[in-house]
Amino acid sequence: MATDIISPGPVPRLAGKVALITGAARGIGATIARLFTKHGAKVVIADILDDLGQAVCQNIGAEIASFIHCDVCIESEVEKAVNFTIEKYGKLDIMINNAAIAGDLKFSILDNQVTDFERVLTVNVTGVFLGTKHAARVMIPARAGGSIVTIGSIASSVGGNTSHAYTSSKHAVVGLTKNVAAELGEFGIRVNCVSPHLVLTPATAPILEKYPDLYTDVYSNLKGVDLHEEDVAEATLFLASDESKYISGHNLALDGGFSVINPSFGLFSSRFRAK
Ligand SMILES: NC(=O)c1ccc[n+]([C@@H]2O[C@H](COP(=O)([O-])OP(=O)(O)OC[C@H]3O[C@@H](n4cnc5c(N)ncnc54)[C@H](O)[C@@H]3O)[C@@H](O)[C@H]2O)c1
Repeated sequence: MATDIISPGPVPRLAGKVALITGAARGIGATIARLFTKHGAKVVIADILDDLGQAVCQNIGAEIASFIHCDVCIESEVEKAVNFTIEKYGKLDIMINNAAIAGDLKFSILDNQVTDFERVLTVNVTGVFLGTKHAARVMIPARAGGSIVTIGSIASSVGGNTSHAYTSSKHAVVGLTKNVAAELGEFGIRVNCVSPHLVLTPATAPILEKYPDLYTDVYSNLKGVDLHEEDVAEATLFLASDESKYISGHNLALDGGFSVINPSFGLFSSRFRAK
């Protein structure tokens, strides 16, 4: 028997939901917060940039967006952010682990310092672990399912595009996502990743300023299309909403085929076709 199709139109896709988003004071996280509230959710922004975070909330509207200072590396602060969400809005349906740092780009592993490497792993992996753990702490007893989404990266599946630390960290969060999805499926809680290619944000603006052609040249396959913060927010919205109700343990690539197509040799390469 056919089941109901989710209607496409302007129906709010997160009506009545509550989301906690780390690192949402700017960039992709702030865009996710704006899109989620447009779709009926209430959001809590957890970040270390207090002024920017407060400003994003004011811009969205104080009744539907709140800020809490939270360093994702500190367990007591993540615990507090989750508890604040429950006190403020009564529940937690969606956890978005977005906060991350890129680390310095060094062209030789010999120049990489242990402290820098560990700092990236602490923010990008331990931070995601803590966000996931404390979301699960309240989602499990609530017995209302839930969706946990971590923002990964192209560096979660392909090597050679970012620093050693960042690539290691983004591969690690995919492993964590699969492991936690295995555990939390029993409670109807889904756990997924969204993995974008390069997007212009405050974090990448200095790189794109230095290499202006990078933004349009990075796509090895899909021409004439650029990836924007809004596209990442849309993919995150899909995984956060009930439209993806049977998707768990997945790493959704937003890369125009970059991670699955090697254009250097193949039937469709210009080199081959030219013969
Ligand atoms: N921009 C890109 O090209 C790109 C591509 C792939 C994946 N991503 C991922 O998207 C996410 C967002 O990236 P962005 O480009 O918007 O970066 P961004 O630097 O603009 O935003 C990151 C936010 O995280 C916050 N943050 C950093 N450390 C924190 C900590 N310890 N505790 C709490 N908050 C902290 C920052 O204050 C900032 O508000 C990251 O997970 C990043 O790895 C970005």
